[in-house]
This record gives sequence, structure tokens and C-alpha cells, in this order.
Amino acid sequence: MRESDSRLLAFPGAAELRAASKVKPPLFSDPRSLAVLALLDRVAPTDVTVLLSGETGTGKELAARYIHERSRPHGPFVAVNCGAFSESLAEAELFGHEAAAFTGAQHARPGWFEAADGGTLFLDEIGDMPLYLQVKLLRVLQEKQVVRIGARRPIRVDVRIVAATNVDLEAAVRARQFRRDLYYRLNVATVQLPALRERPGDIVPLARHFIEMQARRLGIEGAGLSPAAAQTLTRYSWPGNVRELENVVSVALIMSRGGLLEAGDLRLGAFADASPQSAQADCPPADCVADNAITTIEQGLRDLLDVGEQAIYERVERLLLSTAFGHCGGNQVHTARRLGISRNVVRAQLKRFGLLGREAAAAALGDVGTA
Ligand SMILES: Nc1ncnc2c1ncn2[C@@H]1O[C@H](COP(=O)(O)OP(=O)(O)O)[C@@H](O)[C@H]1O
Ligand SMILES: [Mg+2]
Repeated sequence: MRESDSRLLAFPGAAELRAASKVKPPLFSDPRSLAVLALLDRVAPTDVTVLLSGETGTGKELAARYIHERSRPHGPFVAVNCGAFSESLAEAELFGHEAAAFTGAQHARPGWFEAADGGTLFLDEIGDMPLYLQVKLLRVLQEKQVVRIGARRPIRVDVRIVAATNVDLEAAVRARQFRRDLYYRLNVATVQLPALRERPGDIVPLARHFIEMQARRLGIEGAGLSPAAAQTLTRYSWPGNVRELENVVSVALIMSRGGLLEAGDLRLGAFADASPQSAQADCPPADCVADNAITTIEQGLRDLLDVGEQAIYERVERLLLSTAFGHCGGNQVHTARRLGISRNVVRAQLKRFGLLGREAAAAALGDVGTA
């Protein structure tokens, strides 16, 4: 291991630690999440270990910071992603090392446990921690002391542990990927953060909250959510949960003209898994418009399926053809090119839908969009 490697997981600086401690109150409106909030309020002032479980983007880290803010007089909040450790660095990162403990370790360094002394150590994605480290972690939790690599004497640490997982730890225990004894040690107070689709009452208030924050950042006046857009958001299943909602409305606000978000501005499903930065960076405007359109169509199709509309296939095919035909001014060759199909197919379809005669075509051009 080289000393420079360890910068990958270097401690947050003092400024970051201060910023991290200023957590905005989370937004909870749905009865299910109000119950979660009540539970967080109950466990926070104690010093029990808390295990937060929930899908990615449900607000586990936010909940951990919330707990930290309300715990006993506290030191720093230190967040560690247990899935991001490289095998060779993990132990030194967690428990620290003495000078010359290994090649390249010129100076002694404290580990995450010492950094969090008097505060909260947030062990994120604990289910990803390798088994050999789980043993060492368990020992530290039991003995409340760490031994730096290369050191003889243990150092006492007073750290509140909040762990988070998006995998079912009980199943991981059964599959022998997670130690049962560590699981019991962590599973003192468990708070399950429900998926966003299980608390639909949060969707619109959260969307408005993110719109307001993003609008302030971008200096957009009169930003808001149209009733149709609110309905679209409420119907969607949010596989990426609150993080996805935050991304969707942030990007929509950037792409929208006037700040009032319409259903068509929302790119649902486009980045269930992406960070806000990458979602924005990967989005050339033309592609965004195309993606928006596909999302809108998809939503429309879902609505048709929901309401039990008859002969959807036939109607949608007719709509596609008549819309393209109208868009191309009744020119079959252009229509074929825009749709990426052969002229013969266009002709056959026009005939099938009774759009071929001059009068029929005129009627079709007139009723584009309502077929
Ligand atoms: N109840 C909430 N109120 C306000 N923002 C929230 C809420 N829940 C989640 N968020 C925001 O959603 C994003 C994802 O939350 P995070 O805590 O990182 O989720 P997880 O750790 O479960 O993946 C963050 O930007 C967070 O601030
Ligand atoms: Mg997280």
C-alpha cells in the first residue's frame, strides 16, 4: 500500500465536517414517513446503535445525519462507504496506522473511528463490508477501542454507530456473506425507510421542495409544478426513490422554459440510478427533448392501459402514421423516411387506415393528434 493511495479515502476536512453538521430538516408528509420520523426522534437522543435499511435513495444518509444532530453533545459526523474500500486500504482507513507500519506509510494516521471520536460514525453500505473486516469491526464495537496497524496499545474511542444497508442483511447472514454476531450487534434499533412509491404523500411536497431549492440556485422566478405534472410524478414508481425525484425535477427545471414544470418536461426513468451531475452532463438538449417525448408517450400508453382502453394497438399505430403523414405534408416518401420504414409499408398502412384517398388524407391531416 502506498501513502498516496489513502488520499482516495482521505478524511473530510474540518470545513466539510462543519458543513455536514448543518443538516436541513427532512421533509416528511406521508403518514408512513411521519411514523419513521417519530422513530428517529425516539432513538436519536439515546446512544444505541441504529441500523437504517431501505432501497438506495430513500434517505438513509439524511436520516443518519438527522440522528446525529439530535444525539447527545456531539463531535463530528463521519460517513464511510464500506463498499468503496479497497481490500489493502480498508483496515488502515478504519483503524489507522503508525508510521512505517507498511511500505509508504511515512506518517502515523488516525482511522475513521478516531476521527469520529465523540460523534457519529456512519457506516454506509455495511452489507458490502468484506468478511475479514467484519470480524475486526465487531471487536472494535465490543471493546470500544481501536488498535492502529503497527501499534501495540489500543486507543479508546467513544463513537455512536449508525449503519445503513440497501441489501437484506438477514438474507446475507443466511447466505454466509454477513456475520451473524455482527448483525446482532448492529441490529439494536432498526429503522426501515420505505420506498418512495410506498409513501406517495411525500412525492409532491418533496418535488416542490426540490424545485424551490433548484430555482433559488438558478435564479428562476415563478418556478412550480403544473397539476398534470404533479399527477405524473405521483403515478410513477420511483425505483431510484427520493434521489431520482430530485434529479428528475432538477433537470426538468433546467430544460423548462418558464420554470413551471409541465408533464412533458419530466424525463421519468431516464436516470433512476444516476447522480445529479452525470444526469445533467449526459444530456445534450436534442436528446433531452427526444427522451422527454418518449417518456410522455410511455406515460400516455400506461394511462390507456390503466383505463382499459380498447384496441390500443390499432389506435396507436393509426395515430403514429397519421401524425407523421400530416407532419410531412401528405408526402409518402418523406413519411417513410421520417418513420424509418419503407414506402410500401407506409402505403399499405395508409390504405389500411383509409387514409389514402385525397379526401381521407385531408381528413386525417385535420384530425392529427386525435385519432
Ligand atoms: N425526506 C427527505 N427530505 C428532503 N430530502 C430528502 C429526503 N429524503 C431524501 N432526501 C434527499 O434525497 C437524496 C438521497 O438521500 P440519501 O440520504 O443520500 O439516500 P440513501 O442514503 O438512502 O441512498 C439526498 O439528496 C437527500 O438530501
Ligand atoms: Mg446513501
